[in-house]
Amino acid sequence: MERGKDDKMRDMLFKRNEAWANKMRGSDPDFFKRLHKQQNPKYLWIGCSDSRVSANQIVDLDPGEIFVHRNIANVVVHTDLNCLSVIQYAVEVLKIKHIIVCGHYGCGGVKAAMENHEHGLIDNWLRHIQDVYRAHKKEIDLLENKNDQYQLLCEKNVIEQVINVCHTTIVQKSWRNNVDLSIHGWIYSIKNGILKDLDIYVSAPEQLEAVYEAHGINYFS
Ligand code: CO
Repeated sequence: MERGKDDKMRDMLFKRNEAWANKMRGSDPDFFKRLHKQQNPKYLWIGCSDSRVSANQIVDLDPGEIFVHRNIANVVVHTDLNCLSVIQYAVEVLKIKHIIVCGHYGCGGVKAAMENHEHGLIDNWLRHIQDVYRAHKKEIDLLENKNDQYQLLCEKNVIEQVINVCHTTIVQKSWRNNVDLSIHGWIYSIKNGILKDLDIYVSAPEQLEAVYEAHGINYFS
């Protein structure tokens, strides 16, 4: 069936795909043969769906090297079967030892959560970020500039999502079984392409108290 300009779009993307596959084969003839056999990623990346924050490109890794879950504003919800399934597969099947929650400054999801306008269905998802805002409101409100407040909430959101990863049954069980597994919180700047470590790192449940203390989190566990 003739699809007019939609055919053009498809042809353009297929052409790009072919050129990319040829380029990959050109630099490494066995690349796809190896990938076809198995994937062996060492990292699970939980990031934002924003088109500017592609995990593989940010850390310059090839396909097969990083396992990725992305959603709006890199939120880890305790009952989100999609995210939980990714974490379980990453940890229990792929034996990944590093989970990285990576947010980004200028996150549209975080901004929308701060503004309180109506966006429809997505508002239910953004409630999770509003919970983060409420938990850190005192500290955020100390900043006079609205934009600074917004960027700080982007950071706080990463920190809270790291904690949420730590409290999943999957991570808790792994730690109980002495599995080597660490959770990291990073943030990316679209302005200059540079990652920043938010100095939140958890590799054992005993470390959580100190993490709450360091990052001003009230947690009743
Ligand atoms: Co975002």
